Amino acid sequence: MGLRHFLSLNDLSAAELKRIIDRAMVLKSDRQIRKLCDVMKGRVAVLVFEKNSTRTRISFECGITQLGGNAVFMGPTESHLSRGESIEDTAQVISRMADLVVMRTGAHERIENMANSALVPVINGLTDFNHPCQLLADLQTYIEYRGDIKGITAAWLGDGNNVCHSWMNAARILDFQLNIATPPGFRPNQSLSELCRSNVMITDDPFLAVKNAQVVITDTWASMGQENERLERNMAFKPYCVDSSLMQYAHKNALFMHCLPAYRGQEVTTEVIDGPQSVVFPEAENRLHAQKALMEFLLHVND
Ligand code: CP
Ligand code: NVA
Repeated sequence: MGLRHFLSLNDLSAAELKRIIDRAMVLKSDRQIRKLCDVMKGRVAVLVFEKNSTRTRISFECGITQLGGNAVFMGPTESHLSRGESIEDTAQVISRMADLVVMRTGAHERIENMANSALVPVINGLTDFNHPCQLLADLQTYIEYRGDIKGITAAWLGDGNNVCHSWMNAARILDFQLNIATPPGFRPNQSLSELCRSNVMITDDPFLAVKNAQVVITDTWASMGQENERLERNMAFKPYCVDSSLMQYAHKNALFMHCLPAYRGQEVTTEVIDGPQSVVFPEAENRLHAQKALMEFLLHVND
């Protein structure tokens, strides 16, 4: 098999995905007892970020350090990519010096070009199309709180965006039901919806989507790059705000998840995101553990 990257959850089998999540839980408890793992000792990861980040950058930099490696961060204006150097040339150069690339970019094609030209594994730290690292942490969080995710009902409210797309892939791979409620003009990608149709229901009715759901998920209504559409989006998405009355329709033990950053009073009320059903901070913390397990896996399978 050729070099393996992580551009999408679909790059993993169900068994591999479960193995990474199990390992993330072990790495999490090891960290609590200060047990170290130095699988990245002597290795360097380059973080190529063409968009801003708090969690993804911090979790990768901390994770790489905790695994004994070093991270080199290049922000949106720091490399020659922002002046038009090609992705292909950048990939060749990084591959001769480093052991791993984490890339955050806009068009998904850019990360595919990076992976096609790189001689080291490439990890997707978010594109406009998907955000698979977020799902590793989200799945870990659900399983930690509630156990097996197979057969549950999850509800996605709001924009059919990159994080929604990764939830759709997760539903197909791990076989749970994902109900998505979006305004008609903001539905998820059509071919992905086709691929995941056995596990995904799409509606414009937020109450139908959350009915008996064991987890309710939302995200910002204006993703990075859509800031100038915020006013128009706020109007369209208003009925999809996750508030206490909507949460009442979900299962009584439903969890609330959000990848963050959150905009309180827009996609979610303060009462819900700061309330007892919310697991958004454990979810953010799990980015660290899940990505450490992912890096260990990729370095192992590509050795
Ligand atoms: N959830 C997430 O990816 O956050 P950042 O944009 O802060 O990295
Ligand atoms: N959908 C959001 C996710 C941020 C982590 C965005 O792309 O900006």
